[in-house]
Amino acid sequence: MKPTLGVCYYPEHWPEDVWASDAARMVEAGILWVRIGEFAWSRMEPEPGRFDWGWLDRAIETLGAAGLRVVLGTPTATPPRWMLDRHPDMLALDAKGRPRGFGSRRHYCFSHMGYREESRRITRLLAERYGRNPHIAAWQTDNEYGCHDTVLSYSDAARDGFRDWLAQRYQSTDALNRAWGNVFWSMEYDSFDQVGLPNLTVTEPNHPHLLAFRRYSSDQVVAFNRIQTEEIRKCSDAPIAHNYMGRILDFDHFAVGADLDIASWDSYPIGFLSDRLEETEAFKRAFLRQGHPDNQAFHHDLYRAVGRGRWWVMEQQPGPVNWAPWNPAPLPGMCRLWAWEAFAHGAECVSFFRWRQAPFGQEQMHAGLLRPDSAAAPALAEVMQVAGEIADLGEIGQAQAPVALIFDYDSAWAWEAQPQGADFDYFRLVFSAYKALRRAGLSVDILPPDTADLSGYALVLAPGLLTVGQPLVRAISATAAQVLLGPRTDTKTPDLSIPDPMGPNIEGLDITVALSESLPPGIEVPLEGGGRFIRWFEHVEGTAKTRRQTKTGHPAIASAGPLHYLAGWPDDETFHGIVSDLAREAGLSPRDLPDGLRLRDTAGRRFVFNYSAEPLDWEGKTLPAAGILWEEI
Ligand code: GAL
Repeated sequence: MKPTLGVCYYPEHWPEDVWASDAARMVEAGILWVRIGEFAWSRMEPEPGRFDWGWLDRAIETLGAAGLRVVLGTPTATPPRWMLDRHPDMLALDAKGRPRGFGSRRHYCFSHMGYREESRRITRLLAERYGRNPHIAAWQTDNEYGCHDTVLSYSDAARDGFRDWLAQRYQSTDALNRAWGNVFWSMEYDSFDQVGLPNLTVTEPNHPHLLAFRRYSSDQVVAFNRIQTEEIRKCSDAPIAHNYMGRILDFDHFAVGADLDIASWDSYPIGFLSDRLEETEAFKRAFLRQGHPDNQAFHHDLYRAVGRGRWWVMEQQPGPVNWAPWNPAPLPGMCRLWAWEAFAHGAECVSFFRWRQAPFGQEQMHAGLLRPDSAAAPALAEVMQVAGEIADLGEIGQAQAPVALIFDYDSAWAWEAQPQGADFDYFRLVFSAYKALRRAGLSVDILPPDTADLSGYALVLAPGLLTVGQPLVRAISATAAQVLLGPRTDTKTPDLSIPDPMGPNIEGLDITVALSESLPPGIEVPLEGGGRFIRWFEHVEGTAKTRRQTKTGHPAIASAGPLHYLAGWPDDETFHGIVSDLAREAGLSPRDLPDGLRLRDTAGRRFVFNYSAEPLDWEGKTLPAAGILWEEI
């Protein structure tokens, strides 16, 4: 499929007489898609039950008539002020029990049934009015579920919903008490109505209580989203997307994605490096204006899986953002590089946020493709360059990657409930595996935890999985791939207790994690032959063969044939060595790429990206800073 470009536009922010020239300029820049509407509830329904669709009708008509395809967003991330008068208890409460008030956005609790119905009502009205409009070519539900830490709410509505959810899941309080081990500290319940939310306890709440609340909260996002997809599908055949975020794991994106046609995510590489990723200050300085060389690719691969192959970048950073601690401008060429990297990972569309920088509101310092005075901002020329290159290059076919990496939201919640070490973080662990694979120059498919078929992969990694379910167990025993499990993989029950026999309990791999240690910063477990574990180290026993050991003689990797268990968290250098060895055994040719150079193989083409601020060599050619090349393979 030939990739496309898009842009986010807010007609309600601009006088109506500029819409037509904006649309013409978008088309001239090579843009095909325009996303609108997602925050405009107060203009669609200025008072309860009084609607003003006229402006939206005209905006859609103007954009469509110019040749643009419209993505229409449901406006439920920004309930208008009057909504609070109708539903004073619709606000989410934070863990301290304080309401998260009006005056920005996402001020709603997913468990509030009254607000859910309001969300159904406005979605139905939009779908009825625009579902057959020829210019509406896709939908977006809400905006960035989970943004601003909004999945967890400690409201009465959440408490009541949680009790029902528990009753359905466990059927009896005896079963719940057993599963959670509530005999400990006399925490037993004899009615579901006694169960509270896991906040405001004297010391830490029981881990399974926390984990159950995370699962419940995730299910509320799924249910909230499903109401919208149901209403839209009654009136429209256009595909439905949601715009997910980077490193937000508070709900199961695979479960939300199952109700959608397209996954999309909002990519702000420079903002994320500064406020969301753990790297050294020197590394952050080196990539200050480019973003982390692996973070975008990771999320592209993740959302390709969430979208079952169909995915977009719904919002692409075009210049400085406003929300990170510091907001530098991208290096010239980076907007082009980010777009091409997304296309190389299979994006159908890269849509820039936003068309024109707003002169008002919280985001007035956030760049757009145009300045507030409508002059072109630096990114516009890069968008036009990409449009020209798409026309030259044509289709980009995807190929199955040689490496699979399993990703599981439930495990993220489990280890957040029970980190055991202050810096044990599931995303960070999986991302360190991903970085090692990328440095080795390998393309990666991220797969969900219920994956039942691993055929075609040479190497499979499953770090930190809470449990390995039956489909994946069977897929592991059927695959010819080298499989690296651990650390922490399959060491607990689904309710976060220690299983008997102790885990992991993976057929064909006889090992047991007998003891786990977490290690503070600066403390490491050196490995024989070089390398080290940091943060986490497991003492394992069993008949599996010690493939590598620590200097103290403990197994560091224990193996049975192609099945391997990694008994600690390797630092970046060590992880690269480990995955490279396994990749070689699997018949692949791992490399040792410099930090800024990254590869992505598609069907018939290799893309090479230079994320560094300096020129770098690639097989006899020199790539300038922010340079890209593609070659036949
Ligand atoms: C996204 C959000 C947009 C805008 C943007 C600014 O998280 O979806 O509405 O706020 O960030 O970078």
